[in-house]
Amino acid sequence: MNYKLAFIGFGVVGQGLTEILLEKEDMLAEKYDFHYAVVAISDIMKGSVYDENGLDMEKILDMVKDGKKLDEYPSGVKGMDALTTIKETNADTIIEVTFTDVKTGEPALTHIKTALDAGKNVVSTNKGPVVKQAVDLLEKAKSNNVYYGFEGVVLSGTPVLNLVKHTLAGNKISGFKGILNGTTNYILTRMEEGMPYDDALKKAQELGYAEADPTGDVEGLDALGKVVILTNVVLERKLSWEDVERKGITEITEDDIKKAKEEGKRWKLIGRAEVQSDGSVKAKVWPEKLPLNDPLAGVGEAINALTFNTDELGSVTIVGPGAGKRETGFSLLIDLLEMNRKLGT
Ligand code: HSE
Repeated sequence: MNYKLAFIGFGVVGQGLTEILLEKEDMLAEKYDFHYAVVAISDIMKGSVYDENGLDMEKILDMVKDGKKLDEYPSGVKGMDALTTIKETNADTIIEVTFTDVKTGEPALTHIKTALDAGKNVVSTNKGPVVKQAVDLLEKAKSNNVYYGFEGVVLSGTPVLNLVKHTLAGNKISGFKGILNGTTNYILTRMEEGMPYDDALKKAQELGYAEADPTGDVEGLDALGKVVILTNVVLERKLSWEDVERKGITEITEDDIKKAKEEGKRWKLIGRAEVQSDGSVKAKVWPEKLPLNDPLAGVGEAINALTFNTDELGSVTIVGPGAGKRETGFSLLIDLLEMNRKLGT
């Protein structure tokens, strides 16, 4: 099928997806009958551009690399804000990749609602709206006969939500436990090698793993958001932010790390939730000292991992990147191809 795409936000993740779309354009067309044109981009810092016939995305990437504003693009309509771009362009699919605010979900929540109400598909890596209103937004998409995908909100491009929805379908999933934040796992890995906490955090920021405000990572808020999402979407139980017990890694000392090593154990920041016998859910984000034979203990660097408790297979663990430009960009491709599968049949 043919799609007209519009980017709302054009930071590293949007640029990562653009690189993939350009490099794989022929393969996507031949193998999956997925054809696209990017018709609009609106970014609060970089400006905006709209051409109903499609933009030259190689040129756009070069411009962004050179620090130029999108308004300097040689043709097209300029100056459209996010909501105007969503409502008034001929785009049929909105790629929502603005910054994440997990507390309010805004402005992404309004962008996504507006797009779904306008009968447009949405793919997004934005955690905020999913933490706040995953179920409502999915219902809105369904009632408007459009697609809303957000594979990248947990474990970036490492498939989790599509894995559960398709390949693990037929299982009852009663809980999960995982390393859901790359920054803290990176810091703990470096601390085991003797690097002080502050230096390790600085490195994680330099490598682009941390959120704009890294407090969200080290205090466990980012992992908490992911626990809420997984509980609502995978366990299909209502859980809100306040229901989750939380502690980050800021109180773990170099001495704690050394002692764990002597015991043959490793500290990991674990996010977990289990359905209880009365149907309620117990959820927690807490540092845990894992024995080395736990599959999650061997997962180092900024890698994430998630173990699902299933009735047919027992524990199923998926391990892979949880952050990064191409990795998160790829999660949007997972959604676009899944949308194409659904709409193309
Ligand atoms: N700051 C997040 C992390 C990015 O470190 O995992 C991906 O959600």
